[in-house]
Amino acid sequence: MARLTHKHILLGVTGGIAAYKSAELIRRLRDAGAEVQVVMTEAAQSFITPLTLQALSGNPVHVDLLDPTAEAAMGHIELARWADLFLVAPASADAIARLAQGIANDLLTTCWLAAAGKKAVAPAMNQQMWADPATQANLDTLRQRGVAVFGPGAGVQACGDVGAGRLLEAVELAGLCADQFQSGQLTGVEVVLTAGPTREALDPVRYLSNHSSGKMGFALAEACREAGARVTLIAGPVHLPTPERVQRVDITSACDLLAASETAVTQAVARVGSARTVFIATAAVADYRPARVAGQKIKKGDKDDTLELTLIRNPDIVASIAARADRPLVMGFAAETHAVEDYARDKLARKRLDLIACNDVSRSDIGFQSDDNAMVVFWPDAALPAGVGRAELAKASKTQIARQLVSLLAARLPASESAGHAPAPGDPSQTRHADEQL
Ligand SMILES: Cc1cc2nc3c(=O)[nH]c(=O)nc-3n(C[C@H](O)[C@H](O)[C@H](O)COP(=O)(O)O)c2cc1C
Repeated sequence: MARLTHKHILLGVTGGIAAYKSAELIRRLRDAGAEVQVVMTEAAQSFITPLTLQALSGNPVHVDLLDPTAEAAMGHIELARWADLFLVAPASADAIARLAQGIANDLLTTCWLAAAGKKAVAPAMNQQMWADPATQANLDTLRQRGVAVFGPGAGVQACGDVGAGRLLEAVELAGLCADQFQSGQLTGVEVVLTAGPTREALDPVRYLSNHSSGKMGFALAEACREAGARVTLIAGPVHLPTPERVQRVDITSACDLLAASETAVTQAVARVGSARTVFIATAAVADYRPARVAGQKIKKGDKDDTLELTLIRNPDIVASIAARADRPLVMGFAAETHAVEDYARDKLARKRLDLIACNDVSRSDIGFQSDDNAMVVFWPDAALPAGVGRAELAKASKTQIARQLVSLLAARLPASESAGHAPAPGDPSQTRHADEQL
């Protein structure tokens, strides 16, 4: 949803029962960082007052086409220019008809004609009105002009009918608004991403773990989805909400994580092929686990000043995925406390990764629990003298860092036309597997 930050959303409210939901929608949009201005039809004002929407949007609500207070009395042009996205929600059958016909007989419809940015309608009406061929033809016209149609949903309606025509919930509408601003860099791509720590059980009440908060992985999952990818987020035990429209799989141990990763990658490759599948390993996986998990809580004996634990090696998840015959593009992470870049470059080559992002977790201002991060990213590039490409991402919020990582990732994917085919000599996508040359 971070793509709505500072976006200008012009919300058109028309005359229907669902107009009350526009109040919640404004709140959601503003919570996501958008600025909201509202334009209402005359009929809409019979369903919800401009005062309510003014209070929620923090801006005066616009209702008059002939508004002497607007600069140069051209309110419709000012509003239309201001809007990054013009969403009409709820959109009545009447408003949809007028928009499709290009009628400009009130402020909302005149703004619509004058607006050159993104446009969307969220229909809300009785199921019979929705099914009427006139309504459907009008929506087809709008779609052909590039207007996004959000919903409608189906279910019991205010009039007692059951069927299609319900306005989508505010949270869904806000998510669809955010999608209008996605970069499209990962359209058609499946991303399987691991995040957070693992827990390795010692006994029924104790475990070995680490300080990973999962914030970087969750931010990256959201950034990938915003860039158009379908995302499966495999999360260790963290207290973070699941980003919208991201499929989450919760795991506990490193062995769980490996099994869930293999399953998710297999499913993603089956859907889009290995060349359009990306595996991102941000999880802080425990390198070792107790050799024996006690069936009961380990008790301290009176004379036991020390306790010896035998640890065994956990599977290397990122290397396992990179070693698959149907390997996806693999991005690893390295969190180090010293010689950060050296370790990262070594890991890139040793584990045959396509990219590695490393950060210095000894710094208190970035890393594990922080909301900020700073990273250096390496990838194999046979065309460069050192055989490695390098990008430095200066300290920024994890959301911003995540977006930059998405851009670097997208640049390493083969062009979609060639997806699934061996790269031609000289094809830049060849560098995906050039780590053998390091
Ligand atoms: C109580 C009531 C509820 C209505 N609900 C809807 C509705 O949900 N969807 C719709 O398209 N029209 C609905 N209408 C009809 C519209 O209000 C009517 O078509 C009006 O002209 C729409 O004007 P507008 O598009 O300028 O806002 C309703 C009318 C009434 C009286």
